[in-house]
Amino acid sequence: MGVAAAGPQPADPFATGDAVVDAAHMRLCALYAVVRESLEAPAADGPPPADLRTLCRELLGLAGDHFAAEEALMAATGFPERDVHRRLHAAFLERLEGIRSFILAGAGADETGDYVRRYLLLAAIGQWLKVHTAIADRRFVDFLAATGQGPAAADCAG
Ligand SMILES: [Fe+2]
Repeated sequence: MGVAAAGPQPADPFATGDAVVDAAHMRLCALYAVVRESLEAPAADGPPPADLRTLCRELLGLAGDHFAAEEALMAATGFPERDVHRRLHAAFLERLEGIRSFILAGAGADETGDYVRRYLLLAAIGQWLKVHTAIADRRFVDFLAATGQGPAAADCAG
């Protein structure tokens, strides 16, 4: 028995339809790819893996900026689930801070420790992209569409 044929599939399963939100998610996807590549054994003559502390700093900065813009858009548009959504953002940032602390505490870790730290960061980004974007952010974008605020509101998110 073959796989059941599905209906039309979106080009990007994580796309919410909001240009500003999707642009930030694409930047996070790019960062995810960098972390994933850093888990692969580097070529003998290739560049060293990306610095883990730098990746952490970039991720925290990007996530913080993105969440602030998204929450400002929620406030401006009267999104009723704003407080719950804000708590999800705060929980993710707290998780990232915990991973960052773990990474900083392991400066000079052996190869196995370094791999575990990279994997923790990768898992955090991956989970956020898949779960938060596909479910929580989707609810916000659906709200914008249902209230006719999508395109105009997206312009003020910066
Ligand atoms: Fe969000």
